[in-house]
Amino acid sequence: MPLDPTPVPDELRGLRVALLVSGGIAAYKVVDLASALTQAGCQVRVAMTSSAMRFVGPATFMGVTGHAALTGLWTADGSPEPHVSLGDWAQLILVAPATANVIGRIASGRSDDIVTATLLAARCPVVVAPAMNDAMWSKPAVQENLGTLRHRGVTVVEPESGRLASGHSGTGRLAGAQAIFAAMVHAVRTRYDYAGRRIVVTAGGTREPIDPVRFISNYSSGKMGFALAAAAADRGARVTLVTAASHPIHHGIEEQHVDTAEEMLAELRTQLRGADVLLMAAAVGDFRPARTAKHKIRREETPSLTLQLEPIPDLVATLAGDEALAGVFRVGFAAEDSDLDAKGVEKLKRKGLHAIVANDISRRDIGFGSEYNAGVLLFADGARHELEKATKREMADRILDLLLPKLQR
Ligand code: CTP
Repeated sequence: MPLDPTPVPDELRGLRVALLVSGGIAAYKVVDLASALTQAGCQVRVAMTSSAMRFVGPATFMGVTGHAALTGLWTADGSPEPHVSLGDWAQLILVAPATANVIGRIASGRSDDIVTATLLAARCPVVVAPAMNDAMWSKPAVQENLGTLRHRGVTVVEPESGRLASGHSGTGRLAGAQAIFAAMVHAVRTRYDYAGRRIVVTAGGTREPIDPVRFISNYSSGKMGFALAAAAADRGARVTLVTAASHPIHHGIEEQHVDTAEEMLAELRTQLRGADVLLMAAAVGDFRPARTAKHKIRREETPSLTLQLEPIPDLVATLAGDEALAGVFRVGFAAEDSDLDAKGVEKLKRKGLHAIVANDISRRDIGFGSEYNAGVLLFADGARHELEKATKREMADRILDLLLPKLQR
C-alpha cells in the first residue's frame, strides 16, 4: 500500500508530538502518520495501550520514529515516571486511533495505563481521533464522553463514513491524514502562536581570554536570553540558543555554547540561515586582549601587566550587512543607565536592527543578575511600547506578543 502522500503542514514541523495509540484496527494507519510526521521534522514519541499492541508492535513505531515506544507505566526508559516525562515533554498530544474504551477512560480521569496517565500528566493541547464500529460511535455514552472532552478543550477529529472493519458501512473510520493534520494545526495555532518559526536567541556575556585561565567579561547573567528562549519554545518556535552563559535548559531548545564574540559570530552565521528572528540578548564584549598568552601568566615573572585591548566588531551590525540573512528580523537589547529612548533609537539605526529593547540598568531592582527587568521596546517603524517591571519570563512573553504582528508570513 502506498504511503499516505498528504503533506505535513509547516506549522507542525519541529514540534514534539506524543502519539498515544489505543487498540483498534486503525492503529496500522497511525504508523503512516508517525512516519510522515517524523519525516517532516517532528519529534514523535509513541505510547501504546496493551490492546494497541495486539494490532501493531512497538518495534514498528520504533522503526518509523527512531525511538522506543512506551508500552506500560513501569517500562524503564531511564525515567521512573515515563508518563510524567512524556507529558512534560510533549507540545502536542495526538490520541489515534482513540477507541470508545480509551475515550471513556480519558473522560473519567483514569490513569491506569501509560496512555491515560500521560494525558493526565500533560500540559499541552490534545487532539483525539476516534475510530470504532458505527454502532459504538452512535451510542450516547460515547458521544457524551466526547462532549466532555470537547468541553475540556480537547480537539476531536470526527471519524469518516465508509466501510468498517466489521464489514458494515457507517461512521467510525479513522479520519484521513489531512483532517488529522488540520486538527493538529488548529490545536497548535490556538496555543502556539510561534509554531513554524525559527528563532535564534543569544545569551550571556562573551568571554575573551587573556591566558588559558583568565578572561575579560561582563556582569550579564544570561537570564533574559534564557527566558526569551524558553518563552519562544513554549509558544511553539524552534529555538536555538547561542549562549556564553550556562543555566538549566528548557525542553526542546537546541543549545550552542560559545565563549568569545568571534565564536558567537561564527555560530550565528550558521544558525541564522533560514531563521525568522534573531533575539540578540547577549552582552557581547566591545574590547578583547590584542594577544592571548599561550601559557598561564605567572605572578613571580610578571611584576606588572598592561593589557592592550582591541575593539570587537559589532556582531549584529555585521550580520545586518550579510545579504543571505536579510530575511531575519533582528532585535537588539541595550542596557542603558539614562535616556533609554534616545540611546535605543540611535543604536537601532546604527546597528541596522528592526527593533530594540532598551532596559534601565540604573535601577537596582532590575537588570543584571536580577529575576526582573523593565524598559522600552522600540521598533524601526517608530512604534514604542513601555515594558513595565516584570519577571524576565513575563517580559519575554510580552516582547514576543509585540513582535508577532511585525513578522511577515
Ligand atoms: N552587540 C553586538 N556586538 C558587539 C556589542 C554589542 O552585536 N560587539 C549587540 C548586543 O548584543 C545588543 C546590542 O548590540 O543586542 C546593544 O549592545 P550594547 O552593548 O548596548 O551596544 P554597544 O554598541 O556596545 O554600545 P555601548 O557603547 O553603549 O556599549
